[in-house]
Amino acid sequence: MPDLCVNIDHVATVRQARRTWEPDPTWAAVEAQLGGAAGITFHLREDRRHMQDFDLERLKDVVTVRLNMEMAATEEMVGIALGLKPQMAMLVPEGRQEITTEGGLDVLGRQAELAPMLDTLSQAGIPVSAFIDACPEQVQAAAECGFSVCELHTGPYAEAFHEHARNIGHPLVTEELEKIQASTKEVLSRGMSCNAGHGLNYANVTAIAAIPGLSELHIGHSIISRSVFVGIREATKDMLRSMSSRPSS
Ligand code: PXP
Repeated sequence: MPDLCVNIDHVATVRQARRTWEPDPTWAAVEAQLGGAAGITFHLREDRRHMQDFDLERLKDVVTVRLNMEMAATEEMVGIALGLKPQMAMLVPEGRQEITTEGGLDVLGRQAELAPMLDTLSQAGIPVSAFIDACPEQVQAAAECGFSVCELHTGPYAEAFHEHARNIGHPLVTEELEKIQASTKEVLSRGMSCNAGHGLNYANVTAIAAIPGLSELHIGHSIISRSVFVGIREATKDMLRSMSSRPSS
């Protein structure tokens, strides 16, 4: 089973709604760790809509599991990552108008721009992941560009599941699942590690967690949503249970 990395941005979103000090994403990170998370993921967005710069050092102090920094491919973010030295830098596309990350990074179209940043981070000993759509062209481009990790975008699979009455056996859900399965094989065959995430929840995670060779799942919204009722520690444990349950055929 892959490791679970809990994305804590959504806690910071609630805090920033009042620009106050609660709820504290660092506290959330500790609770997720106590619930069994193998990693904590945060996204420092260019517009600072949720995580703030002051959160980073605090997280670095208390997180004893892997700390992953999701970031746009910009000089500013590369500089911050070099100072923080997270266990992994996760390059994602970023749009000002989007509610959350919408599509995968176009590594194919941006290779020339991404390569120097990738080089700088890699030379500082920070493994770099590309968040990409589950398609062979982007996997190939990520390998050629020198990424050591790909995170496959599970959003289209999650959307298909939601749109088709949460029926995991619906042909369009199966189609999206098969793309992720095929891309996982492709990523691994090119010598990179393979992670996945976006839109995963307690109902749709099992089939993804069962894909052989996936190293990590990055999950935020569903865990933080459940935590409103049961707390982050329990919500993390519940997610680990869903990940390890047997997929329905
Ligand atoms: N992976 C990436 C690259 C993301 O941008 C996000 C959203 O911040 C996630 C995973 C987690 O997605 P969700 O909050 O839908 O679980």
